Amino acid sequence: MAARSLLRRTSTLSSSVLGGLREVCAAASPSARGPLLQQTQGHSTATAAAASPGEKSSNLKTFQIYRWSPEGGGKPRLEEFQVDLNDCGPMVLDALIKIKNEVDPTLTFRRSCREGICGSCAMNIDGDNGLACLTKIKKDQGGAMMITPLPHMFVMKDLVVDMTNFYAQYKSVEPWLKRKDPAPADGKEIKQSKKDRAKLDGMYECILCACCSTSCPSYWWNPELYLGPAALLHAHRWIADSRDQYTKERLEAVCDEFKLYRCHTIMNCTAACPKGLNPGMEIIHIKNLQLQKPFL
Ligand code: SF4
Ligand code: SF4
Ligand code: FES
Repeated sequence: MAARSLLRRTSTLSSSVLGGLREVCAAASPSARGPLLQQTQGHSTATAAAASPGEKSSNLKTFQIYRWSPEGGGKPRLEEFQVDLNDCGPMVLDALIKIKNEVDPTLTFRRSCREGICGSCAMNIDGDNGLACLTKIKKDQGGAMMITPLPHMFVMKDLVVDMTNFYAQYKSVEPWLKRKDPAPADGKEIKQSKKDRAKLDGMYECILCACCSTSCPSYWWNPELYLGPAALLHAHRWIADSRDQYTKERLEAVCDEFKLYRCHTIMNCTAACPKGLNPGMEIIHIKNLQLQKPFL
């Protein structure tokens, strides 16, 4: 049996709304930026075809994938696909690519590096935010895996969400080196001790995937006022950089009831980070530094 036939779309699901996974952003127009994300419910109707004699037996896994397109309207729905795990890589992204290549080329998701570097394949997998390329398919667990967009974000199509606000917040912390002294006359780099360089560990590795911010309840309710854990991690990355000469101004810029103090230290963000970073702790560091600001 050709590989194509082992990977089949099984059903298009009805879309009765269960609620949950709700997106809120009062300032934006849902009609312009995609519908509110709603979890849908349905029932698989198709089963795998039996393998013919001599054929390799299949090991089918069901994926329920969020679908919505701005073209044609209609409500969001979950659609089921079955993938033969004997003919698929081990990661969720492998299954998505296989479905797109072999069953439905309209399935839309972001991906680039396939190795947890670019941050573009962030999505919600079985209820947890994560990178599809670093998340293994649950081979030994029965039942379907459910894949939906990052929660509380406007959906542009299928698993692609609008990152405009997230990137604008990142930009707002001015994530670049700022100096008051003139650049070195010899044109060389501004040096930093190994000890000072080590202070950036745990921050420079951030790949801006947004898994943390979109798992944060405070960010869900105030996405345009609260900077969120990703942007605040980057704010601290530059506050902590010994070469930067705008430490006090940077602290001042985020010292705001909403921008910084909407964080209530629940630490969902840290639990969600696929790179093992601790954005919740970086926020705590910024709050502590606010107390030291008069002495800087
Ligand atoms: S620690 Fe702060 S940023 Fe992290 S999830 Fe909790 S409220 Fe959000
Ligand atoms: S801190 Fe972690 S979860 Fe948040 S954007 Fe950076 S890499 Fe992604
Ligand atoms: S494809 Fe780049 S992080 Fe997953």
